[in-house]
Amino acid sequence: MAFPQTRMRRLRASAGLRGLVRETELRAGHLVLPLFVNEAPSGREPIEAMPGVERLSLAEAVAEAREAAGLAIAGVILFGVPEHKDEEGSGAWDENGAVQLAVAAIKAAVPDLLVMTDVCLCEYTSHGHCGVLRGEGTEARVDNDATLELLARTAVSHAHAGADLVAPSDMMDGRVGVIREALDGEGFAEVPIMAYSAKFASAFYGPFREAAGSTPAFGDRRGYQMDPANGREAVREALLDVQEGADMVMVKPALAYGDLIAAVREASGLPVAAYNVSGEYAMVKAAAAAGYLDERATALEILTSLRRAGADTIITYHAKDAARWLAEQS
Ligand code: PBG
Repeated sequence: MAFPQTRMRRLRASAGLRGLVRETELRAGHLVLPLFVNEAPSGREPIEAMPGVERLSLAEAVAEAREAAGLAIAGVILFGVPEHKDEEGSGAWDENGAVQLAVAAIKAAVPDLLVMTDVCLCEYTSHGHCGVLRGEGTEARVDNDATLELLARTAVSHAHAGADLVAPSDMMDGRVGVIREALDGEGFAEVPIMAYSAKFASAFYGPFREAAGSTPAFGDRRGYQMDPANGREAVREALLDVQEGADMVMVKPALAYGDLIAAVREASGLPVAAYNVSGEYAMVKAAAAAGYLDERATALEILTSLRRAGADTIITYHAKDAARWLAEQS
């Protein structure tokens, strides 16, 4: 039956009817808040391109985690901003590193909040790449196989500190399997892996690299992160991570990749995370500051669209605001 028997507007006539037939739900429990933890003894440092996001000392990270828990946000994902960097990125698996100390402190203070860690070397290497290099100068390349063991060491150090979940973001081939084996071997068989499976070489990471001080000193990440033009390859990446033992798969960035959130969900059968990355946050913030967009309506629409595309979990810098807005609505 078509018009005039069918009138799509009938079910849009009131808030009650719209609520009755709403297909997608967004709640604070779907959200994960990224935290940047530095080695400063105290305080917070603003990040220019990400208003409202700061680099946090250990104590401030705990305060921020407490606030997130109070807003019923599912968890936090930690990124380290170390003082010391070297060729190998050895700070990544330092048991007294900012991330390891923050994991332990947050778990002690707010035990029910999920504490996740980003497993990568780029914040810790002097050259800013996500693995160790082979070759000199312009010939230097990230050595996939030599990097795997360092990533595994990093993931184990996070698990030792008490991480609830580890999330490798380096895009080396085979890392999920190697990390799984290392965790199991060290008695962490219960710690899940959320793989950044389809992580693209994206312009949207700009503000994060300022925040984490992880811009590559030369070249770019196109030799290991995915080409934004490739969708079938994203599904293949996710399926390989499933085979290697991933518990969750991720698509990153999120906003321009809704098709792949849907495709990866369909093909993998695993819970899917979407990373609403720094540049996506910065765009909304900048447009709102200029008076071009309503921040609240825009951010909630974006997050809802990621849920609709198929994301079970959304990592977003808007998590605290979104949780507050959602609480006001209900
Ligand atoms: C580390 C990592 C990056 C992001 C998450 N983990 C940066 C990169 O790959 O350059 C980006 C997150 C964001 O932009 O919010 N490899």
